[in-house]
Amino acid sequence: MFDIKHNGVSWIYSDKVKKHFLNPKNFITGKTPRWKFNGYGTSGSAACGDVMRVWILVDAKTQKIKRFGWKTFGCASAIATTSMLSEMILNRGGMNIEKATLVTPQMIIAKLNGLPVKKVHCSVLSDRALKNAIEDFKKNLN
Ligand code: FES
Repeated sequence: MFDIKHNGVSWIYSDKVKKHFLNPKNFITGKTPRWKFNGYGTSGSAACGDVMRVWILVDAKTQKIKRFGWKTFGCASAIATTSMLSEMILNRGGMNIEKATLVTPQMIIAKLNGLPVKKVHCSVLSDRALKNAIEDFKKNLN
């Protein structure tokens, strides 16, 4: 395998990272989703371009996340981690919001078979945006 190193640090992307980057799941192409949503969260900073936006539709009865859409100005790692997170959340009919708040960037990275060390911070964007979307959903209930 071809390994790029910078200052002795590996920059290999796993096949799963490449797959999700090249074919992102649940990515929103419009300004907002075309479907109804009841939670919206952002993370990152527009100033440096690393913005993540997440929309969710939570079933108020079951508290499960039935839809998860996102868009970002972040890099390939941010795209791959958010795509993977969206699959983790929507798998098996949707994850309960309390369980979803326990998902960590490390769990997402493990599902992707790793990320280059210098790219780990990119995985935090989706995690934070999802948690903010869940908070938004809870706020909207009141
Ligand atoms: Fe900024 Fe990855 S999102 S470097």
